[in-house]
Amino acid sequence: MYPLRRNRRLRQNEAIRSLVRENYITPNDFLVPLFVVEGKGVKEEIASMPNYFRYSLDLLEGEVKQLWSLGLKSVLLFVKVPDNLKDNKGTEALNPNGLMQRAVKTVKNVCPDMLVMTDVALDPYSVYGHDGIVEQGMIINDDTADVLAEMSLSHAEAGADFVAPSDMMDGRIMTIREALEDNGFTDTGIMSYSAKYASAFYGPFRDALDSAPVDLVDIPKDKKTYQMDFANRHEALRETEMDVDEGADIVMVKPGIAYLDIVREVKNEFDVPVAVYQVSGEYAMIKAAAEKGWLDHDQVMLESTMAFKRAGADIIASYFAKDVVKLIS
Ligand code: PBG
Repeated sequence: MYPLRRNRRLRQNEAIRSLVRENYITPNDFLVPLFVVEGKGVKEEIASMPNYFRYSLDLLEGEVKQLWSLGLKSVLLFVKVPDNLKDNKGTEALNPNGLMQRAVKTVKNVCPDMLVMTDVALDPYSVYGHDGIVEQGMIINDDTADVLAEMSLSHAEAGADFVAPSDMMDGRIMTIREALEDNGFTDTGIMSYSAKYASAFYGPFRDALDSAPVDLVDIPKDKKTYQMDFANRHEALRETEMDVDEGADIVMVKPGIAYLDIVREVKNEFDVPVAVYQVSGEYAMIKAAAEKGWLDHDQVMLESTMAFKRAGADIIASYFAKDVVKLIS
């Protein structure tokens, strides 16, 4: 009872605040997304993601070394696929000498202890910009899951530690798990994007990879038939439960800040590590407001990162990883 309990006693100065602080951010919390392109000496800034770049493999090496030296020990790889290699079935995704497969080897070569996760979905390889095979205006589920399993195998063969299916097809975790087991990749993990919402916050990412759904008659212009309706909460738990049952080692909620309620519920409900993805649009918003002088970039960045931890995230995939770690070290 007041004044026996005055809550402000625990906030009087930084010493007492740090003594009673409940959550901390460390480099161990982060998974760093990296965009890879063909070519040599390429470091291209992504227009809608200031200070974030696509790297060709030769320059990826230096970036990876720098991450490691900052204590960042896990990366999540995405590739920008040349247009002439795109089709409807993700054929190029299975090329053992494709960009993703070479990127995995490049990272492992310069930094053998770096944990390498690979994005598994067809959109960077799809002429239609969809995460699955398109037939008669629909995204076909089971055939897509089979390709995703082959793609996962190809990434595992290249040396990926984890595959990260981001496509939201039904049953793909089991299909992938079985393919990995049948081929001896018993230690290759699966981080499932289990509760991934159909979100407009992905816009800048689709610029980064040139992977937005095409605007053609008879082709769905959005991903709402496979990614989740942002009005739903129970559905996220159902999706996550199935992915855990099918063999996901890590589950993920995506996007981040607008979905902290889901992060907390998934964390409370399931006994596996929970990742959250602070997506490209979240990054872009903070950068843009800071550029205008409307927000304090570093403080807002730290506050959002802490919000993920407070909500229960064990892993934070974020384009801010390097900036945060530099700031707190
Ligand atoms: C596609 C994929 C997307 C992201 C990761 N994988 C975009 C989408 O679903 O359209 C978004 C990441 C971001 O916005 O940062 N499989």
